Amino acid sequence: MSTITVENVWAEFGDQIVIENLDFEVKSGAFLSVVGPSGCGKSTFLRMVLGQDRPSRGRLLLDGKPLPDEPDADRGVVFQRYSVFPHLTVLGNVVLAYELGQSRFLGKLFGAAKRRAKERAEELIVAVGLGAHRDKHPSALSGGMQQRLAIAQALAKDPKVLLLDEPFGALDPGTRAQMHALIKPLWEQAGMTVIMVTHDLKEAFNLGTRVVAFDKVRHDPQAPGRYGARVTYDLDLTREGAVPVLGFARPIPLMAAQ
Ligand SMILES: Nc1ncnc2c1ncn2[C@@H]1O[C@H](COP(=O)(O)OP(=O)(O)OP(=O)(O)O)[C@@H](O)[C@H]1O
Ligand SMILES: [Mg+2]
Repeated sequence: MSTITVENVWAEFGDQIVIENLDFEVKSGAFLSVVGPSGCGKSTFLRMVLGQDRPSRGRLLLDGKPLPDEPDADRGVVFQRYSVFPHLTVLGNVVLAYELGQSRFLGKLFGAAKRRAKERAEELIVAVGLGAHRDKHPSALSGGMQQRLAIAQALAKDPKVLLLDEPFGALDPGTRAQMHALIKPLWEQAGMTVIMVTHDLKEAFNLGTRVVAFDKVRHDPQAPGRYGARVTYDLDLTREGAVPVLGFARPIPLMAAQ
């Protein structure tokens, strides 16, 4: 189980309000796509769920318990440009991620545990389609391959929650389509709860089981930081009686904004 509860969450930096009063629940196993204009606080929201930033007000809960203030093995993350370790091979990168997930304080495993780490890393490398490249260094990989490596690293921690911040934003359309085909079965098999930020609406609808849009509903021209973004649309794509719109294959319910 990995239900995320977002309880009256605000993000304020000094007198700038970035996010105001987010209040919703992400069901265990959901794939939540978050869309919205640049600067509306999507990455800030993700960083709060990751534990890198704290809400200035409100709470974030995982299965009813407050999320720890620091990133941990329960939460994996993939950014638009992920800094994989350049001096390690593909295999070395994934083994290290696994070790860090398993042995938080030592960051190293030995003997049978180390062998298990290597086996699991090799499975993941094959699962993301990098089986033929396990001994290469990141500099020898294309952008799409580096993102696959980043995904394998994130999955190596066996996270309950996977956070994706425009993970495919820097990729060409063909590679992006390949990544979509890759991530969906990985998500289904692992049963994780995924939150993905994207600027690509088609991606949001194709991958998500739910799409939320963040935006400011109030503006003060004299003080741009006075109001923050809220959820302006919340579309549950799994709801029965959904009406297909926008030419997407999957039915999309037309639900009122929150
Ligand atoms: N640590 C911080 N200190 C001060 N301001 C911050 C901090 N983090 C974020 N902000 C501000 O919060 C606002 C939202 O930033 P954020 O990166 O979350 O937007 P975003 O929706 O992810 O945008 P984009 O789509 O361009 O990635 C910006 O105005 C940014 O300057
Ligand atoms: Mg961002």
